[in-house]
Amino acid sequence: MKNASLFEPITEGNCPRVRVTFDGQDYDLPEGVSLAAGLLSVGRLSLRNTPVSGAARGPFCMMGACFDCLVEIDGVIRQACMIEVCDGLVASPAGRKEDD
Ligand code: FES
Repeated sequence: MKNASLFEPITEGNCPRVRVTFDGQDYDLPEGVSLAAGLLSVGRLSLRNTPVSGAARGPFCMMGACFDCLVEIDGVIRQACMIEVCDGLVASPAGRKEDD
């Protein structure tokens, strides 16, 4: 399955979840994980598209080095792998224009 997540949770379904909205879609992600890890765990592999070619980009290094996981939170571009999820977090793909 091409879009299946390579990440498997180490806890079985009893881990607390928080509600996060990304790109207009709601997800219940494990509490305490990074936004990048949480979105990967639900199969969201691409978080944005490059401004030049439009190529899809998703988390790669998971430690703040590659900048492929950029998202926008409250009008600020951030690295999704450096953000811990919290209930009510709203994020969108970085660099998305209103008419996209
Ligand atoms: S995954 Fe590389 S900076 Fe976030």
